Amino acid sequence: MARRTIVTMPGDGIGKIVLPEALRVLEAAGFDFEPVHADIGWELWCREGNPLPQRTIDLLEEHGVGLFGAITSKPPAEAARELAPELRGKGHVYYSPIVGLRQHFDLDVSIRPCRTFPGNPLNFVRRSREGVEEPEVDVVVFRQNTEGLYSGVEWTNPPEQVRAAFATHPKFARFADVPGDDLAISTRIFTRPAVRRIVRAAFEYAAKHGYRSVTVCEKPNVIRQTSGMMLAEARAIQEEFPGIELWNTNIDAQMMWLTKNPEAYGVIVSGNMFGDIVSDGFAGLTGGLGFAASANIGRTCAVFEPTHGSAPKYASYETSIVNPIAMILSAVLMLEHLGEQAIADRIRAAIARVVAEGRVRTYDMARLPGSPDALKQGAASTTEMTDAIIAALD
Ligand code: NAI
Ligand code: MG
Repeated sequence: MARRTIVTMPGDGIGKIVLPEALRVLEAAGFDFEPVHADIGWELWCREGNPLPQRTIDLLEEHGVGLFGAITSKPPAEAARELAPELRGKGHVYYSPIVGLRQHFDLDVSIRPCRTFPGNPLNFVRRSREGVEEPEVDVVVFRQNTEGLYSGVEWTNPPEQVRAAFATHPKFARFADVPGDDLAISTRIFTRPAVRRIVRAAFEYAAKHGYRSVTVCEKPNVIRQTSGMMLAEARAIQEEFPGIELWNTNIDAQMMWLTKNPEAYGVIVSGNMFGDIVSDGFAGLTGGLGFAASANIGRTCAVFEPTHGSAPKYASYETSIVNPIAMILSAVLMLEHLGEQAIADRIRAAIARVVAEGRVRTYDMARLPGSPDALKQGAASTTEMTDAIIAALD
């Protein structure tokens, strides 16, 4: 059988550090693959005026699976300033290449597992009568990844036709006299096929992995049309999954409940914005940015990435101190997507062993300030953490 090819996109900053670490673990765990490097990110913007070159899109089209590190984004003024002199004034406009990838390949299903590794000092704990308890959180957030408040359909000073269209809604009357420059509108667009796809993906995942409940985390009592559509579709789809309960929680209440009884939840499904919020909320209970991984899955292409960014300051340390686990867990998600469950389980078990043992901890796990001094205070380096995980593979 031909070796599986994987498009590897390290990007910027610590993306360049953690991605090779994940590849080391994949290799040590016995995954037979060939990495195919692809360029993405800030350096490409500065050098070529495009952070997501066509050749990268072509490679993803060819191979269908990508591992992505992180990219640096900067505000428009800096983007213009850092562009190579010969490219200036030629109409190049910076855009986020990861959002670009999601849109180009319609990577509409985002999966963000938030699971406790027992023994992680960063885990959520709770005071109880018996003392301090550490509930095991096992939540998987399904976030619609391409629509909603991130669809980009928005205006300040909307054109006359837009104002006229809004004026057809009775509730717009109280905004009708607001001067254009004082009126900003960001639209929240849900389409039924995309809503169905994310809700179905959530139920199928719950059924396959034995979760008891799927929670729609939206706000249908206020945002009736969009959140309401998701809840209605979830009710219809739930009928095909009689063994799985459908819960309905408002996003605001959910943010409170997740700090009271996070272990009660299983699979959660949300639109783009609320999915972003609730997944960060649960990630914070299960180790934070050093542990948060995500999958972006479309029909023809899937890209796997840690939630964290390029943390540029950390990329300049002589010995890297950042936690490679979020990137390694992103590779684990990729393995699961490719049907390599046994290798995925081996790597997860190795991470669990290292965390439980507690001998090797990166600065974040040791709760130390993120400076190079952390190493002198006993924190493990990025490489030492990866080495420990590789050594713990059974
Ligand atoms: P960031 O996630 O890069 O870093 C924030 C802080 O989190 C760091 O200062 C560090 O304390 C901690 N951290 C991040 N990754 C860690 C790891 N693996 N281990 C231990 N600690 C870790 O977010 P920030 O500083 O807001 O953004 C930096 C750059 O990254 C910006 O240019 C931003 O636009 C970009 N970004 C890119 C993302 C992506 O590529 N998907 C996502 C978020 C930000
Ligand atoms: Mg986020």
